[in-house]
Amino acid sequence: MFVIGTRPEIIKMAPLIREGLTRYSQIYLVHTGQHYDHNMSQTFFKSLNLPPPTYNLEVGSGSHAYQLSEIIIKLEKLIFKIQPDIVFAQGDTNSVAATALVCGKINVPFAHVEAGIRSFDMTMPEEINRKIAAVTANYHFAPTKQAVINLLTEGVNHNRIFLTGNTIVDATLQHIEIAEKIKNKDIEDIFNFLDGSDFILCTLHRQSNVNNKESLKEILRAFQILQKRGIKIIFPCHPRTIKQIKKLNLDKEFKKLTNLYLCDPLDYLSFIKLIKECSLILTDSGGIQEEAATLKKKCVTLRTNTERPETIEIGLNVLSKTIAEDIIANIDLQLSKDISKIKNYKNPYGDGTASKKILDIIEERRDLSKYYPPNLEEVGSYKVRLHTVTKSMSNEDFEKNYGQILMIFNKEGDAILLPEVVKEGYSIIYLA
Ligand code: UD1
Ligand code: UDP
Repeated sequence: MFVIGTRPEIIKMAPLIREGLTRYSQIYLVHTGQHYDHNMSQTFFKSLNLPPPTYNLEVGSGSHAYQLSEIIIKLEKLIFKIQPDIVFAQGDTNSVAATALVCGKINVPFAHVEAGIRSFDMTMPEEINRKIAAVTANYHFAPTKQAVINLLTEGVNHNRIFLTGNTIVDATLQHIEIAEKIKNKDIEDIFNFLDGSDFILCTLHRQSNVNNKESLKEILRAFQILQKRGIKIIFPCHPRTIKQIKKLNLDKEFKKLTNLYLCDPLDYLSFIKLIKECSLILTDSGGIQEEAATLKKKCVTLRTNTERPETIEIGLNVLSKTIAEDIIANIDLQLSKDISKIKNYKNPYGDGTASKKILDIIEERRDLSKYYPPNLEEVGSYKVRLHTVTKSMSNEDFEKNYGQILMIFNKEGDAILLPEVVKEGYSIIYLA
């Protein structure tokens, strides 16, 4: 069973669902209904070649508590009825947290795709959702090494963590060629508006940016400065943002801008074509930071932290406060960069084979599909202990002699992925 709820989940889950269709006799596609507008949901099934959802829980919009509780109640009933062998959910939305809680509570195998990314920002609803997913997942499919380390830090058993890359790369690479050639009314209108000019591609939907009049006014001010400089902006607007702009009476000001093309959300193929063609992306989206890295585009992210630090390390992304002068300074900084100088560029999110890897692992590691109570009759519970290695040994020997490894630090004090051999001088936290 594949559970999806929002636009990015449909996109990032699509390669996995299509791969699943080639391997399994029956799959169930369950849409929670968290996103429901045609251009936030149905449109993606067509362009991503997906069958329609088998079930739609039709949860819709509401507070966090409303969405979580509605999904939990409806999904639990469905899971009891269908008895799936395994449930997949991707990312960090309320739909994912609810799925994780349902599966965990009734011990149904749960695979979390895009596991372990962390912003360390507990004011962000998505950070809480990601952590909830990590608590119950049987399989954690981590996109990056950093994500693996984050999971280990939270005490996740290393045997359950798999470094696969992010399925967004699969989606992007599988569609970019068709996208580049796409012709439709939206694309025609946008390119008429651009009339050959370079442009900035903008998206915004984060609670911290759009539920705040000051932030929206700063974005407007940045757009006004860009207008004076003759820079055009294409802004396919998330429904939350459209509603907030109207509610806060800023729509007239946005409409006055002649350098701005503000439209409804675009279909996936049109959108990634625009990523390919733009000079720079201005966004607070998670997936779009990864797509920028995949298509080697410069990005300015309107946040003070990101769970995608790799995009910053490779020099394609910078973070910006949502203050007009900061936004402009960061746009200038990015536009002045010569990214052709980034040598031996390697996408930190993988090579586009994440979906295959994930389903191979599910087939090979059926043994992980359930949790069993640990048998600790003599001592009652595990103890968390620290050991500094005095004699190198294989990780298997370490676990036989001491206990399950939780974290390993090298001599320099950096947390590292589980090596074949634990070397002298390493410090290991383990469950005794
Ligand atoms: C949600 C996710 C976020 C993800 C984003 C992808 C949570 C907490 N947030 O944020 O992690 O990055 O999806 O886009 O799960 N609305 C519509 N039509 C729709 C969907 C939403 O009009 O089809 C409007 C409603 O007014 C709704 C608001 O957008 O209240 C916010 O929708 P919601 O799903 O709660 O959060 P997103 O901002 O979309
Ligand atoms: N996207 C799209 N049309 C748009 C804007 C974005 O198809 O008008 C796609 C984009 O290519 C990316 C995903 O939506 O794959 C990102 O979704 P969003 O920003 O809503 O969520 P996030 O990634 O922040 O969770």
